[in-house]
Amino acid sequence: MEALDAIEREVDGAFAPVRDEHELRATHARFLGKEGSLTLIMRRMPELAPAEKKTFGQAVNRVKTAVESASEAAEVRVKQAALARELDREPTDVTMPGRRPRVGRQHPLHRVLYDVTDIFVSMGFDVAEGPESDWETNNFERLGFPADHPALDMQDTFFLHNEGRPGPRALLRTHTSTVQIRELLSHPPPVMIVAPGTVFRCDDDATHSPMFAQIEGLVVDEGISLAHLRGTLATFAQRLFGKDVTTRMRGSYFPFTEPSVELDASCSLCGGRDPHCRLCKGSGWLEVAGAGMVDPVVLSNCGIDPEKYTGFAFGLGIDRLAMIRYQVPSIELLYSNDERFLRSL
Ligand code: DAH
Repeated sequence: MEALDAIEREVDGAFAPVRDEHELRATHARFLGKEGSLTLIMRRMPELAPAEKKTFGQAVNRVKTAVESASEAAEVRVKQAALARELDREPTDVTMPGRRPRVGRQHPLHRVLYDVTDIFVSMGFDVAEGPESDWETNNFERLGFPADHPALDMQDTFFLHNEGRPGPRALLRTHTSTVQIRELLSHPPPVMIVAPGTVFRCDDDATHSPMFAQIEGLVVDEGISLAHLRGTLATFAQRLFGKDVTTRMRGSYFPFTEPSVELDASCSLCGGRDPHCRLCKGSGWLEVAGAGMVDPVVLSNCGIDPEKYTGFAFGLGIDRLAMIRYQVPSIELLYSNDERFLRSL
């Protein structure tokens, strides 16, 4: 009973200095935790004679109640103090300017890619896609590249391992012209598609990147002529660069077209009037596309009768169009993801 009285005398003093929840819990445990003084003393109950138990039990309850009420009072005090501190703090300045959220935007290459695709879709083209790694045959042979032809040198690329196994080799496609083959093998004419995508070559300088983007066009039907090609690309150039832009075709060579042409658009920056123009270098013209009439060999390679069907095809470099549109001096800027550059466009 003496020990119990001693505990009771301690209670108020113990809770008086409590300042926060942590101290509150610790102080409560000092009496009523597993090793608390009151808990330990209660464990000794069985040592008492039955007659003593009642008085002792009542006394224990009295002390226990004292602990609980001191604890509750301290809790109220701690909470009020916390609230007062909160209210005392500097008020929030609701007139402070906000933080501007960082809004993302499309990469210039994607903007050009989507704009170009939209122009062709509005003319009635479907969008087709092919894989970035394809069979060597789809990239070269079926397109009329003779084995060991010098034209292959310009399109050296990365071959995928086939661990010495015989059979077809896979490579990273060097152009989106592979999609011409895939399309012709899987769909009977009429065919009218554009195929945007990434291509790979062993090239690296101010205007060439080993990975770049192209969009391929293919139209195959009865009675398709070079005039359709000319009209399609002239319309495209005006829609992309402005209606004052004119186009010209020059003879060229591609293994998969006959005849082959190169399409130039008049310089959208100087209109051919500035001999020192940094975009056209004074020539007045910008190379925009390779194109031509689909070589009959390509049609027969895909099981299509070249006596019945004719077609035209073209290939545009998306990077080049982006460099023209945004006057980007080096292709590397389009791939290095420097935000200062990207935000400036
Ligand atoms: N595939 C050619 C290249 O990457 C571009 C090209 C030229 C595509 C003429 C065509 C075409 O469809 O008709 O250099």
